Amino acid sequence: MRHLLSTEGLAAPDATAVLDTADTLKQTLLGREVKKLPTLRGRTVVTLFYENSTRTRVSFEVAGKWMSADVINVSASSSSVGKGESLRDTALTLSAAGADCVIIRHPASGAAHRLAEWLEEDGTQVVNAGDGTHEHPTQALLDAATLRERLGDVSGRRIGIVGDLLHSRVARSNVHLLRTLGAEVTLIAPPTLVPTGIEHWGAEVRHELDPELPKLDAVMLLRVQAERMHGGFFPSAREYSIAYGLNEKRLAKLPEHAVVLHPGPMLRGMEIAPSVADSPRAAITQQVGNGVHVRMAVLYHLLAGEELTA
Ligand code: CP
Repeated sequence: MRHLLSTEGLAAPDATAVLDTADTLKQTLLGREVKKLPTLRGRTVVTLFYENSTRTRVSFEVAGKWMSADVINVSASSSSVGKGESLRDTALTLSAAGADCVIIRHPASGAAHRLAEWLEEDGTQVVNAGDGTHEHPTQALLDAATLRERLGDVSGRRIGIVGDLLHSRVARSNVHLLRTLGAEVTLIAPPTLVPTGIEHWGAEVRHELDPELPKLDAVMLLRVQAERMHGGFFPSAREYSIAYGLNEKRLAKLPEHAVVLHPGPMLRGMEIAPSVADSPRAAITQQVGNGVHVRMAVLYHLLAGEELTA
């Protein structure tokens, strides 16, 4: 595998290979007191984050460390980016300093692709940890890993993705990956939070949540991304919650086997009621745990690409 920049165009066998490796790694480490594999010893992984993150940055760091890679974290606010250094110069500097893989989160859509072009000659791998409103491929992979665990398989399942589609890189990555893995996706949002061109995503779009719930095997709530909103997209948080929030009454409309996902961070009381977020139907902490194994698998496929040393 060369770079992981998007799930659009990620072939089903490649996605499945990552998910299977994540399973193997999870089983290998299960119950081990010392979670350390020698697989990436001598490899250097740099996380380069221009936006805030808890789950993605920490789980990449844990993933790298559990595989014995040297992991270095660079945040824009504490680096020479603050002195005006460009993204290209920052990337070339990290590569020259010995990075084998740069994991980037950036507010500009397409930033990870540009980085991959600049680092192509050096052979440095690039992983997109979220670029603007474009893609967040490892989030979609960890969501698929969680759906496989909860539902047995993704193929043939009906997945609803609810909320701020306009600003969501998670939604786009999930639609591409879920469709590649054979799921049907329904996107549910107010008309103001639907991006133009959504008809090309290959998923049906609905504006009312309640009629869709009984048909779903899983429902994924998206965070309302206030930091990317300039203007009023809905009248108030309360009205959003009344129309699109997953509360206990709505949870009861889902089939009994259906699972509730949220990529986090959650806005409790807006997208999801606290009692739903904390219920056994929700797989939110399971998603985070799977994020470590999926990111281990991604680093393994990018940097080792050989028989797994467990
Ligand atoms: N889901 C997700 O990307 O969370 P963070 O912003 O905390 O990394």
